[in-house]
Amino acid sequence: VKKVLGLVGSPRKGGNTHILVSQILRGAREMGARTELIYLGNLRIKECDGCHSCWETRTCIINDGMKGIYKKLMESDCIVLASPLYWFGPTVAMKAFIDRLVYFCCSKNEDKIKGKEVVLATVQAGEDANEANPLIRMLEMSVRYLGMKLKGKIIVPGVGEKGAIKSKKSKLKQALNLGRLIGRLGS
Ligand SMILES: Cc1cc2nc3c(=O)[nH]c(=O)nc-3n(C[C@H](O)[C@H](O)[C@H](O)COP(=O)(O)O)c2cc1C
Repeated sequence: VKKVLGLVGSPRKGGNTHILVSQILRGAREMGARTELIYLGNLRIKECDGCHSCWETRTCIINDGMKGIYKKLMESDCIVLASPLYWFGPTVAMKAFIDRLVYFCCSKNEDKIKGKEVVLATVQAGEDANEANPLIRMLEMSVRYLGMKLKGKIIVPGVGEKGAIKSKKSKLKQALNLGRLIGRLGS
C-alpha cells in the first residue's frame, strides 16, 4: 500500500489549503493509498538553530513536534507540501518545517528521504498565479536538493476568504486527479 502524507502549512484550520490537501488525499485513497493529514501549526515546530548535531548523531536535539514528523516522512512514499502564499513565500510553520529538513542533508541521513515523491500545493488571494513563483521555486529547489521526485503541483489563485476554494470546481477536480495519480502503486 502506498503511503501519502499531507502537510498543511496554513494556521487556518478548515481553510483553503486544508480543503485542497483533503481533496488530493481523497483522490489518493480512491486508488488504494493510505493517507494522513497533519497540521504543521499544531506541532509548534521550532526554528533550526544550525547546530548540525543531526549530522553527527543522526537525531535532531530539538525536542518538539518535528520528532514524529521525521519518522512519518521516512515511512511515507509521497509527501504533499501545502502552504498558502504569505508575502510571496511560505508560512512560518512551513518554513520552520523546511529548515529542519537539513537533518537529511548529510551522507548518513540522505538516503532516508531520497527518491520519495512530492506534490506541491499553494493557494493565494491574488488572481495572478505568477505571484506564487517565489514560493513554488523555493519548494521545487528544496525538493530537488533533497533528491526527491516532484510528481506535480497545483496553484489556486483568487481564494482569499476561508473556504473560497469550494467554488473553484475545476481546481478541485485537478486536485482530485493529482491525488489519483500519486495514489496509484508504481506510478
Ligand atoms: C500574513 C498573510 C500574508 C498573505 N500574503 C499573500 C500574498 O503575498 N499574496 C496573496 O495572493 N495572498 C496573500 N495572503 C492571502 C492568503 O494566501 C489567502 O487568504 C489564502 O486563501 C489563505 O489560505 P488558508 O485558507 O489555507 O489559510 C496572505 C494572507 C496572510 C494572512
